[in-house]
Amino acid sequence: MTETGEITGRTRVLGILADPIAHVKAPPGINRIARRRGRDAVMVPFQIAPESLAQFADALRTLKSFDGAIITVPHKGPMTALCDEVTPRARAVGAVNVIRRDADGRLHGDSLDGVGFVAGLAANGIAIAGRRVYLAGAGGAANAIAFALAAGGVAQLTLANRTRAKAEDLRTRILADHPDIPVTVGSDDPSGHDIIINGTSLGMRPEDAPPLDFARLEPSMIVAEVIMVPEITPLLASAQEKGCRIHLGRPMLDQQIELMADYFGL
Ligand SMILES: NC(=O)c1ccc[n+]([C@@H]2O[C@H](COP(=O)([O-])OP(=O)(O)OC[C@H]3O[C@@H](n4cnc5c(N)ncnc54)[C@H](OP(=O)(O)O)[C@@H]3O)[C@@H](O)[C@H]2O)c1
Repeated sequence: MTETGEITGRTRVLGILADPIAHVKAPPGINRIARRRGRDAVMVPFQIAPESLAQFADALRTLKSFDGAIITVPHKGPMTALCDEVTPRARAVGAVNVIRRDADGRLHGDSLDGVGFVAGLAANGIAIAGRRVYLAGAGGAANAIAFALAAGGVAQLTLANRTRAKAEDLRTRILADHPDIPVTVGSDDPSGHDIIINGTSLGMRPEDAPPLDFARLEPSMIVAEVIMVPEITPLLASAQEKGCRIHLGRPMLDQQIELMADYFGL
């Protein structure tokens, strides 16, 4: 958009690909950054069904006014295979959450979920290097976070997931990239760790089971969430009661918005 908020023939188009899409939160943040940085660009929603994704990716290659897009559920994994090039971390995670179109129409993908989470911790003065970290989950968010934690030099990484095979698989892939980091598959007991992270979707709904054993939380632990709504999940409420320092889900998105804007060249 121009400084006056108008879309013109010169406006560069950014998208967010999702299905469903009404709940996505990133466009206002990206559009605010574009205006703040004086860039004539706008992010708009693209609701694409999974079966149309490949065809749509081909169309994006030909769309000369298109610069890039945020990729979210359910497209992160499938879009990885449709990109012409992806970063090593996106390849390792098996998902992209941003793509960029170059002047030749090639699509490049990256995964910023994990680095965004770690940047969110850092923005609140929480360093991960040398820390013993417990991560609940082995889905999309947890995969990205696990690789970013390993890249950030944690002293120990314990993975715990309902479907244990997915945690085992994640462990194997992390060790292939970071053979020096002790990575284990654990239980619901977070004892013996400095930073505890919920990387599952458990805690979004009141009836959800706990993602880990709250009774094992200790005041010395930092307890972090990926969930943004509710802001204080049952895990964070329990951690607060125990006297733990807590870290909300929102900074992961806030930091990613800045990283995404940089990635799109805004
Ligand atoms: N703050 C942010 O910027 C941000 C960014 C991305 C995602 N998120 C949030 O992260 C959360 C996870 O998203 P995702 O994309 O990783 O989802 P996902 O790929 O579907 O993974 C879901 C994870 O939760 C576990 N889980 C789900 N239901 C469960 C249940 N009933 N019992 C035990 N475990 C269960 C899954 O275990 P199984 O493997 O056993 O199924 C898996 O580990 C969501 O709440 C999402 O909103 C936040």
